Amino acid sequence: MKLTDEEQRMMEGEHGKAAAMAMSILTKLGQIYGAEEMMPISQAHIDSSAYKTIGEAGLEFAEKLVDGGARVRVPTTLNPTSRDIKRWQEFRIPPNFAEKSERLEQAYLRMGAIPTWTCAPYLYGLIPHFGQQIAWAESNAITFANSVIGARTARYGDFTDICAAITGKVPKFSLHLPQNRRGEILLKLQPSSLIDFSEDSIYPLIGYIVGSTAPGRIPVIDGIPNSVTSDQLKGLSAAAASSGAVALFHILGVTPEASTYKDAFQGKEPLQVINIGEEEILKAKQSLTTIEEGKVDLAITGCPHASFPEVERLVQVLDGRRVCQEVEFWVQTNRIVYCWLEQTGLLDSLNFSGVKVITDTCILSWPLDNWNFHLVVTNSAKFAHYAPGMAGVHVIFGSLEKCVAAAVKGEVRRV
Ligand code: F3S
Repeated sequence: MKLTDEEQRMMEGEHGKAAAMAMSILTKLGQIYGAEEMMPISQAHIDSSAYKTIGEAGLEFAEKLVDGGARVRVPTTLNPTSRDIKRWQEFRIPPNFAEKSERLEQAYLRMGAIPTWTCAPYLYGLIPHFGQQIAWAESNAITFANSVIGARTARYGDFTDICAAITGKVPKFSLHLPQNRRGEILLKLQPSSLIDFSEDSIYPLIGYIVGSTAPGRIPVIDGIPNSVTSDQLKGLSAAAASSGAVALFHILGVTPEASTYKDAFQGKEPLQVINIGEEEILKAKQSLTTIEEGKVDLAITGCPHASFPEVERLVQVLDGRRVCQEVEFWVQTNRIVYCWLEQTGLLDSLNFSGVKVITDTCILSWPLDNWNFHLVVTNSAKFAHYAPGMAGVHVIFGSLEKCVAAAVKGEVRRV
């Protein structure tokens, strides 16, 4: 790769050992993907902030960067850590695990990252603009940034994310380049009584189908109304990224690079056209439900982290009802939303109903062994996709209304 004088000096250690190591890692990444040069980014989002996911090696890497004088050169936000920083004891996180998490959190803060601790950094805070070159990790955030905002990021993962933040550079490759953002496959939604666009839970299902139908490709979706909300697109993005590692999709007439068919495919024709109808919706529902009935242990929402309107909606659906005593009901969100919930009194309503609001974290990055959860209901396709493997639980995917009804009753019955 051809490096500028400044990049070369960074690699030779002019900005310290950590920056040299980061530049060397990114250069190797660029060489693997055939990039010819580096390019500047204006912000980064770090996924390697959860101790459970990256373990001892990740902690050692972060602390080694700190010891090597690492400082981020661009505004850098952080994905969830492995504990609710203020209330980890309430959620039975073991003290030795909390201590390791805290060391990792401190390492990133010492490098100058911003303590956002959220997997939905596009909701509040440093939101990139259309066309902006960024280096984001966390699959749902990458997909949302590329597809919904039209910012440009490759699929960065653990460790390359912080290297990008420290150097302020990434290889010029992948989705950073406009020619690599061309739609490849056309997915046409067919009219069906099972596709109700006013129902939030249809969007994660569509996303799940998009990911499993076009894994690793750039799909163009035809048939979604432009009244779709950003929260609905959040659910779609997270599901598409989970089921098929989709890092960019276009929605005709909705997302910024697909105002026309010609724009979406950059003047070319799709490689394939696939219809999506009832059969696919039913299949997606089945894949996201591993058991049909039983006693509910946990209801969870906020994967990705819930926005304020989503929590407001939960309060409306609860309508003053309390969840069954044997059921835990958790909402995952960030501290900004938590603060607004406190100020508006909605937190009191949730507490009255027995719902706990969790911040800073993702429960899939907790040690959940001592919870003994067996059946979890959720309105998140991403959570339903990963939880059976990562937490050893059965899941039922359904609308928010269905999750609330199951939590209030304490069980789900086959109808
Ligand atoms: Fe966020 Fe965890 Fe879901 S990181 S997207 S809450 S699996």
